[in-house]
Amino acid sequence: MSLSGKVAAVTGGGSGIGEATCVRLAGEGARVAVIDIDAGTAGLTAKLAGEGLAVIADVSDSAAVDSALETVEAELGPVDIWVNNAGISGGAHSDRVNPRAEKQLAEMAEGAVATPLEALVRMTDEEWSRMLAVHLNGTFYGTRAAARSMAAKGGGTIVNVASICGIEGCTGHPHYSAAKGGILAFTRSVAKELILQGVRVNAIAPGFVETQLVTGSLTEPLVGAVVMGTPQGRLGRPEEIAATIAFLASDDASFFVGETVSPSGGFVTV
Ligand SMILES: NC(=O)c1ccc[n+]([C@@H]2O[C@H](COP(=O)([O-])OP(=O)(O)OC[C@H]3O[C@@H](n4cnc5c(N)ncnc54)[C@H](O)[C@@H]3O)[C@@H](O)[C@H]2O)c1
Repeated sequence: MSLSGKVAAVTGGGSGIGEATCVRLAGEGARVAVIDIDAGTAGLTAKLAGEGLAVIADVSDSAAVDSALETVEAELGPVDIWVNNAGISGGAHSDRVNPRAEKQLAEMAEGAVATPLEALVRMTDEEWSRMLAVHLNGTFYGTRAAARSMAAKGGGTIVNVASICGIEGCTGHPHYSAAKGGILAFTRSVAKELILQGVRVNAIAPGFVETQLVTGSLTEPLVGAVVMGTPQGRLGRPEEIAATIAFLASDDASFFVGETVSPSGGFVTV
């Protein structure tokens, strides 16, 4: 799977799955741009990825994403691979929901769950909008910017990072599930359009992976419940997800168009 001579850009490349993806793509020979809202972590990943380039941008800002692409192309040349990976978890929403979810776990052990989560009814407009802005709008802005460049030069690959929450619907996280489900439907639509211009677009829908997004937003008992629900009996590792992304981005996946690949330890099997 040589990516030698390719230019790759990864949003949210500063940490977790994005960081592992930058390192993996660099290991396969690509020159990598780390696009992140956090300058410190973007710089660190850029170092880990050899001669990587750190670019600071908020993916929910359309002009910032266009400008990030311009910077990458001015510094490294036309992009061949673009990974829409930047993401956030629930923040204050998770803090409200977690105690009730833990209570449900305790009730489950007693034999009957009675506590309502009240996740949806207490969600604010701002929480809903920010989740969709980062994940769904960010994926649209990134895909559009990359596709404009790739179609003009005759090809490229785009990988969108969704989640099993976009397939199954994750209890208590309707905004995250809606954003990730939207990314999957968006991917199918644009993949069918862009393939005739040589641009392959696919999505991944990982299960639960050991990153800040999970360990920083779920309490220990809730992580334990997730592990119980994963047939493989553990969280995924960022490197395992990065390997799937690298495959989809490479010519080895040349007949994958609009596909969803779900490395999830058996959490979801489709
Ligand atoms: N960890 C999991 O279990 C899991 C499972 C399925 C899908 N995912 C998805 O994988 C992706 C990466 O998540 P992760 O687990 O590595 O989390 P992470 O928190 O380790 O990394 C997310 C990165 O995105 C960056 N980011 C956040 N908002 C941004 C913005 N507006 N603009 C630019 N960068 C921004 C952060 O600074 C961070 O570097 C996300 O889309 C997430 O939803 C994660």
